Amino acid sequence: MKCRVCRARAVIDLPRHNAAFCPPCFDSYLMDQVWKAIDEFQMFTKTERILLAVSGGKDSLALWDILDRLGYQTIGYHLDLGIGEYSVDSLEKTRQFAQKKNLTLHIEEITREAGGSVADISEVTNRPPCSACGVSKRHLFNRAAKTHGCQVVATGHNLDDEASRLLGNILHWQDGYLEKQNPALPDDGGLVRKVKPLNRLTEKEMAAYSFLNGIDYVVHECPMSVNAKQLFYKKIMNLLEKESPGTKQAFYFGFLDRRNRFYPEKEPGEAPPFNCQLCEAPSYSEICSFCRLRIKVTSPQEKPSRTKKKSSSSSSRV
Ligand code: AMP
Ligand code: FES
Ligand code: ZN
Repeated sequence: MKCRVCRARAVIDLPRHNAAFCPPCFDSYLMDQVWKAIDEFQMFTKTERILLAVSGGKDSLALWDILDRLGYQTIGYHLDLGIGEYSVDSLEKTRQFAQKKNLTLHIEEITREAGGSVADISEVTNRPPCSACGVSKRHLFNRAAKTHGCQVVATGHNLDDEASRLLGNILHWQDGYLEKQNPALPDDGGLVRKVKPLNRLTEKEMAAYSFLNGIDYVVHECPMSVNAKQLFYKKIMNLLEKESPGTKQAFYFGFLDRRNRFYPEKEPGEAPPFNCQLCEAPSYSEICSFCRLRIKVTSPQEKPSRTKKKSSSSSSRV
């Protein structure tokens, strides 16, 4: 297998591009894809501060590395989700990376901010863990961006994440979610701009980048999400891709190309009408959804059953 660009020995083949690359040419290809995403969606500029949500997984750590190499101003933010060993490991890998690269990292704990771990929140609110986790992340990423003077929040969602999410949204015709499925969502006066600079790159490519650059990351999936629908949709997309390389990107990029036809770009939205009475975050109700969640999790009626269940279930989950 030879590199498509320089004919040296290739280390990775990318059937979707009908190409194989040696390490330096793969690096150029990958950096170029990130740059294209940033440019196409005008995600951020070199004078802006980017809050990079870093989970300790390959995608967000690699993205941090890439943005730093490209000369962007990043501030790392890690949310400790309190999911046993998985979270301990995630925090450790994130910390080690930041130290090695001499990058700024802020850490918060969900138990402290929301009053309980993801399992606690899920149990008390009766939501699936990923949904409870999502509400907290959205609120806390946004708050951290404002606290640290960042104009934008960047996450490490990759092409596989976006294509599988699109599949799920289409299967259930989730118009609200489809409208919001864009790699760059503008500041609406409430939430700061949100961007996904890895939307052109697959999981396999990000794993290869991390390996070639010696990035030590958490390999395991979150134990709370092992049965999540999203993983099932990823499997389906991978089957399609194996049968017909290029399907994943054709599906996702095809949607982005046509997105404006279905969901015309709106004028910048008005800021949400309220400021939460408790945390002052812009909100669509007098108390924001995160504060409502926190009130529920910390309410004395909910506590006994949660505490009892937590001690018996945490060891089996992790
Ligand atoms: P996931 O939904 O776990 O695939 O994560 C998608 C992206 O969200 C990651 O690439 C990170 O940018 C961000 N993220 C997920 N979990 C955390 C976390 N605990 N702390 C900070 N960022 C996170
Ligand atoms: Fe949110 Fe696992 S990362 S539930
Ligand atoms: Zn609030």
